[in-house]
Amino acid sequence: MSYQPTTGEFFMTEEQAFCLADPNGPNFSAVFLVGLGYLRAEPRITEAFRTGAALGWHEHDEDVFVGGDAFFRPGYVAELVPNWIPALNGVHEKLTAGARVADVGCGLGSSSVLIAEAYPRATVVGSDYHPESIERAHKRAAESGVADRVRFEVATAQTFTGTGYDLVTTFDALHDMGDPVGAARHVREALAPHGTWLLVEPYASDVVEENFNPVGRLYYAGSTFLCVPNGLSQPGGYALGAQAGEAAIRDVVSRAGFRRFRRAAQTPFNLVFEIRPQPCGLTAHCLSRSATLADERRRSPPASPRARAGRAQTGRRSSTRSPRRPGRRTRRSARPTRPIHPGPAPLWSPPTASPPRPSREHQVVFDSGPTRRPP
Ligand SMILES: C[S@@+](CC[C@H](N)C(=O)[O-])C[C@H]1O[C@@H](n2cnc3c(N)ncnc32)[C@H](O)[C@@H]1O
Repeated sequence: MSYQPTTGEFFMTEEQAFCLADPNGPNFSAVFLVGLGYLRAEPRITEAFRTGAALGWHEHDEDVFVGGDAFFRPGYVAELVPNWIPALNGVHEKLTAGARVADVGCGLGSSSVLIAEAYPRATVVGSDYHPESIERAHKRAAESGVADRVRFEVATAQTFTGTGYDLVTTFDALHDMGDPVGAARHVREALAPHGTWLLVEPYASDVVEENFNPVGRLYYAGSTFLCVPNGLSQPGGYALGAQAGEAAIRDVVSRAGFRRFRRAAQTPFNLVFEIRPQPCGLTAHCLSRSATLADERRRSPPASPRARAGRAQTGRRSSTRSPRRPGRRTRRSARPTRPIHPGPAPLWSPPTASPPRPSREHQVVFDSGPTRRPP
């Protein structure tokens, strides 16, 4: 806080207010709400360490749910619509046209509401096993004026209702589950054949010592109190919480029968995966996209002298633009590079850790994504 002696007033600078008091800003203070919330369960967690018992998400103080939402929501506001959805193949277009979305493990429904607000033709079904979170999610959708297109249900990730979804989303929840493979399998069954699963997970390296940074330390603490005890409280035998990382997530996804897995984006706080039931190049959507791209290429061939001469012969106007200066980027090439249709990539690139190899029939196509590292 700053102090103005002439008026005797305490105040925040614009930057301080943005970070500490704006619910759409980074809202770093929310992390203390989560921390104070889960510390109330400390005696039970300590006991659980001794006995091997577990503690479900629903058994925590409400500050955990409210603080968790306040902490994660600003990241979704900043990234989901502007960056993460555009990083997925064809999803923005489907949402614009009116896609059906399931938001699994939706908590207080921030992500469900954000999607509905950004895409007025889309319909969203949010689900979470925790009734109190779903009650709050209902209220939030009503307050945001999207209740006619967003409905919520109390259901686990292994049992949520509906099929034929164009998009399933899961934000910071898969690693909390005792049976993430069962959840992933159910997501695959609920997706339309050309649908996409947008899976957002906490940022983590597969190499433990690479997580010893401020974000990793924060997450390991949260994981010890929240994610691991919750995973152990559910049937399934998994406790991925402790910074699952890409290799473990990829293993879960491949066991569930998905055929395509790609890191589409990342921030210092999140890994963002695009997961699809079918390998690219085999789905009708990809084939039609390939055909469109081939058609576009045919119509605007490269501007080589020979091509220009060919176009002049067929009566098409040659470009009047001055030739590009070497080293100067066009607006198009200045965009982040993202293959629209990466095509059939190599089937497998070995992870840095060594999870069990997926069976041949479940092998996952892996594209390496951006390489930005957390601070
Ligand atoms: C860290 S919170 C994330 C909530 C919300 N997606 C967000 O990003 O704000 C994890 C959520 O996973 C939910 N969850 C845990 N296990 C679940 C399960 N098996 N099925 C459905 N939801 C589950 C919890 O109730 C909680 O709401």
